[in-house]
Amino acid sequence: MTPIYEVLKNNNTTIKPIWIMRQAGRYLPEFREIRAKNPDFIKLCLNENLSAEITLQPLKRFDLDAAIIFSDILMLPYGLNQKVEFKKGIGPILGDLNLDNILKLDEIDFVKKLTPVYKLVNLIKDNNLTKNKNTIGFVGAPWTLLVYMINKKSPKLGLKSDFFKDEKLINKTLKIIEKFLKVHIKNQVDSGAQIIQIFDSWAGLLSEKDFTNYIYEPTINIVEYTKSLNVPVICFPKGIKKFKDFCEIVKPSAICIDYEVDPKEILKDIQIPVQGGMDPKVLLTDQENLKKEVKKYLNIFKDHPYIFNLGHGILPETNPKMMDYLVKMVKDH
Ligand code: CP3
Repeated sequence: MTPIYEVLKNNNTTIKPIWIMRQAGRYLPEFREIRAKNPDFIKLCLNENLSAEITLQPLKRFDLDAAIIFSDILMLPYGLNQKVEFKKGIGPILGDLNLDNILKLDEIDFVKKLTPVYKLVNLIKDNNLTKNKNTIGFVGAPWTLLVYMINKKSPKLGLKSDFFKDEKLINKTLKIIEKFLKVHIKNQVDSGAQIIQIFDSWAGLLSEKDFTNYIYEPTINIVEYTKSLNVPVICFPKGIKKFKDFCEIVKPSAICIDYEVDPKEILKDIQIPVQGGMDPKVLLTDQENLKKEVKKYLNIFKDHPYIFNLGHGILPETNPKMMDYLVKMVKDH
């Protein structure tokens, strides 16, 4: 069994596998080289051969235990015919959400539009570099996708003041997201994804009274669906405080924690496998400090099923040598 499956399925505490969020990305010069020649990010994601090459770039350099497919959570609104663009220095910008058109959209057309993503999964699963490693597929959580689809840009500076104004639109959109998330997950799994991670990057924007409607209920449906396909599902509800409630209610196979979470509190409260936590900024310091921080996480979780990862994506300014040092240190532990 692969090291990550050992942790997720057998609760193995003796091995500490590692993969890194955004491991294929801008901190690698070989990624930047391909990216410079491909200014249209969506088109790049729809080029399965280039996306496969990018997905495998970090595995060629580092002894990681998983490949996460090079794609984006915003491929879902793209598949629903909402315009998605990535503007340099700004981030994603989405077009108007046309619910009438989306309601008419059929599953076959959605799958057709995203077929290169599924071909990519297949290429990764069958590549020699992923032997005895896992291929991880992913989706955005319903809430985070709703945020992008309604807000139409990153909510870094907060949600638009009228975000919740049209309750009917919100509820209908959530239902559509849920339906097509299942389609997107099923197709990734059928193409060879062995684990699904659900990114809820903007969970922290909500107050706890809204968790049931926007986080728990829609996420439970997606988690249960993924588990019904016999595939472990890792949830990353970034920015929440009540991880114990989240795990008890949503019941993911594992929980990924962000860098603001106290790992000792998690250890006390959580029985399921844990992933991640270390602040990506640690990789911008020096080897001594990195060593200290890595040891902290490995020590705290020494008797707990744990997958090493960061508490958010690796930063573009990271020196690949620090990543190399990190992976070797976790592997030698
Ligand atoms: O982790 C991986 O290596 C797999 C690839 C991956 C990407 N996006 C590629 C990408 C994954 C898992 C994602 C998830 C994603 N996308 C999330 C959830 C995780 C998180 O970061 O919170 C979100 C919120 C998005 C939406 C998104 N995509 C944003 C906000 C941006 C712009 C970010 C920025 O720094 O400019 C993207 C673009 C994006 N997705 C890049 C990559 C490598 C950068 C592309 C580039 O400009 O070169």
